[in-house]
Amino acid sequence: MIKRPKIAIIGAGGNVGAAVAQWAVLKELGELVLIDIKPQPAEGRALDLTQAGAWEGFNNTRFVATDKPEALAGADVIVMTAGVPRKPGQSREELIGINAGIVKGICQDVKKYAPEAVLIVVSNPLDAMVFVAKQVTGFPRERVIGSAGVLDSARFRTYLAMAAGVSVEDVQAMVLGAHTDKDMVPIVSSAMIGNVPVTKFLSAEKITEVVENTKKGGATLTGLIGTSAWLAPGAGTCLMVEAIVRDQGRILPCSVELQGEFGVKGAFLGVPVKLSAKGAEAVYEVELSAAEKAAWDKALAANTELMNIARGILG
Ligand SMILES: NC(=O)c1ccc[n+]([C@@H]2O[C@H](COP(=O)([O-])OP(=O)(O)OC[C@H]3O[C@@H](n4cnc5c(N)ncnc54)[C@H](O)[C@@H]3O)[C@@H](O)[C@H]2O)c1
Repeated sequence: MIKRPKIAIIGAGGNVGAAVAQWAVLKELGELVLIDIKPQPAEGRALDLTQAGAWEGFNNTRFVATDKPEALAGADVIVMTAGVPRKPGQSREELIGINAGIVKGICQDVKKYAPEAVLIVVSNPLDAMVFVAKQVTGFPRERVIGSAGVLDSARFRTYLAMAAGVSVEDVQAMVLGAHTDKDMVPIVSSAMIGNVPVTKFLSAEKITEVVENTKKGGATLTGLIGTSAWLAPGAGTCLMVEAIVRDQGRILPCSVELQGEFGVKGAFLGVPVKLSAKGAEAVYEVELSAAEKAAWDKALAANTELMNIARGILG
């Protein structure tokens, strides 16, 4: 029998998980399993989405929605969005105590039921949660990947496009480093619009404004909506799922364990990664300007501190 990829989303009763499911269904990426500690919202999201198919022309009448971790068995890709989202004014760092416990428990299930899966972590504080996932599952770094750079880069590209008055499709720009307002590193030195450096389109002041808007992108939305955003996070995460299940070899900014790249060993930071059926198949180094290198070093220090807090929680 021809097998479609099995994609499990944990925390799927919530906003980000449901958004990942929505984009995944529209792209017909595979069989979806929606898991949540509260099974009813997961079932509700699945049913709602299924009924959208009547108009949107996708056929996904076979879904699983459950609170049972056994449903992870045979999953090719697992997306973890379980956890508590940020409240207005709350930092990602403040979330660590709550979400580390949740992520730890789920990762024990992932290891038990789906030891061959590629795990994409979305729960915040992101880089520390990727560390927790890697520690608990013991998976190789190729199969424990954090989703955050895709969102931060989408925001960076969007603000650049808005400032320059161009199509976002022609903006190539990445955000690396940590997934926190203070320590993400939007890479201006290699940002391009249609292969032309962004400095040809925007003044230094405008670029600084774009960088600031990007850094506070999450807080802006949390302030407006009252909880963290979900559509763009879901779209970016789904892009990662697609790159893996379709073996696309896309180069996307993802958080992984550094194993000597950028001169760093054992810390988790957002870097350009090749995503294929193997997961994070390769990590690429980029040249940073002096200011970006200083910001990168600050991000490394901040993430190392968070990782140490998480290590303490893991015991
Ligand atoms: N990395 C990113 O780019 C990014 C972007 C947005 C949100 N987030 C993070 O994603 C997470 C989810 O955000 P949200 O807005 O969807 O929150 P939400 O509250 O809408 O959904 C979270 C879901 O997780 C479920 N859950 C909690 N504990 C669980 C467990 N042990 N097992 C299974 N399910 C469990 C909850 O029942 C809930 O349905 C948060 O940590 C948030 O900060 C990350």
